[in-house]
Amino acid sequence: MPSYLGGHWRDRRLKTGGGTPRRAPRRSGLQSRVVKPNILVTGGAGYIGSHTVRLLLRQGYGVTVVDNLSRGHRHNVDAERLRMVDLADTERLGRVFAERAFAAVIHFAAYIAVGESMRVPELYFANNVGGSLSLLTAMVRAGVKHMVFSSTAAVYGMPAAVPIREDSPYAPVSPYGDSKVMVERLLHWFDEIHGLRSISLRYFNASGADAESGLGEEHEPETHLIPLLFRAILTGKPATIFGDDYPTPDGTCIRDYIHVNDLAQAHILAVESLLAGGRSDAFNVGTGSGYSVREVVSAVEDVTGKKVPYVVGPRREGDPAELVADSTKLRHTLNWTPRDPALRDIVSSAWNFERKRGS
Ligand SMILES: NC(=O)c1ccc[n+]([C@@H]2O[C@H](COP(=O)([O-])OP(=O)(O)OC[C@H]3O[C@@H](n4cnc5c(N)ncnc54)[C@H](O)[C@@H]3O)[C@@H](O)[C@H]2O)c1
Repeated sequence: MPSYLGGHWRDRRLKTGGGTPRRAPRRSGLQSRVVKPNILVTGGAGYIGSHTVRLLLRQGYGVTVVDNLSRGHRHNVDAERLRMVDLADTERLGRVFAERAFAAVIHFAAYIAVGESMRVPELYFANNVGGSLSLLTAMVRAGVKHMVFSSTAAVYGMPAAVPIREDSPYAPVSPYGDSKVMVERLLHWFDEIHGLRSISLRYFNASGADAESGLGEEHEPETHLIPLLFRAILTGKPATIFGDDYPTPDGTCIRDYIHVNDLAQAHILAVESLLAGGRSDAFNVGTGSGYSVREVVSAVEDVTGKKVPYVVGPRREGDPAELVADSTKLRHTLNWTPRDPALRDIVSSAWNFERKRGS
């Protein structure tokens, strides 16, 4: 597993609020360390949030996590940094902001299941939009002016052109996708009116794990392909492939799988950009390579050495044939490069986690 502790990231010198880098006093002879700011991470007990917290800590940031554990796991966060607070509780958020000086918020906390949002949209608008509004209100009150926001490829709906660029129009086809559009709009107005700068990262398919640190994907219910294929292998209950009559080479949907650590690193680069005075913006985060569902099945069989039991069902409403990111803007503007773009490596890291979890 390539490490984000090495290479140029280790040598970055972070500027806070456009000022000069803050340094700790020399601890001994030759040793010195850059003291990095405190970041508040919402949803840090979840899948992507916990990987980002781990990376932030390893790169020297102070981290406090806000999570109500509605969908996350206590074991993903050190007890002393977890604040069990619901986003809707603006007053309690205010007390967390008062604990220490936070330079930025990375905002993961949300409900994430497209299918559930089609059945109970009110849950998604209340939690994802209402929760974000409460958080932004608490940030304004506390004078915290930087946010990195978890957005999604679902803001584009059924894109007219692939790979998708950031200037493709908003066209969400689910309450989930629309809840993220609404938060991006909130962020626009909070910048205009309150000077709160933000970067929205529109993720494609987050996948893989940092099994070494015991972190991985544990959604309940699970809706993501790679863990569902593992489940099919482990239980013998067939997974369902939703449609094999799409206009793609093998008829199944094509998606862009991005390793969760590469995604986590994009958040840190986004925070650094904002703290160095960068403007509000939105970026796609994907590798730019698409894999069909059948190709993912083959990769899973290859890595595990086991056949995946599956059946082919009908298409799901609102599933585009192909979703692949054009991430040129992120690569050029924030100097981001995925370290683990190969599907086989992503699947292999996820399988390592699955085996550790089961043992
Ligand atoms: N997983 C993906 O492939 C993917 C793709 C695109 C976008 N995203 C976005 O990334 C973010 C994180 O996704 P994830 O896969 O890590 O999800 P997750 O469900 O594993 O984590 C979300 C966390 O937020 C917490 N949370 C939810 N509502 C809360 C509230 N009101 N107050 C406090 N905590 C709350 C949950 O307890 C959970 O720990 C989400 O915003 C999601 O929309 C994920």
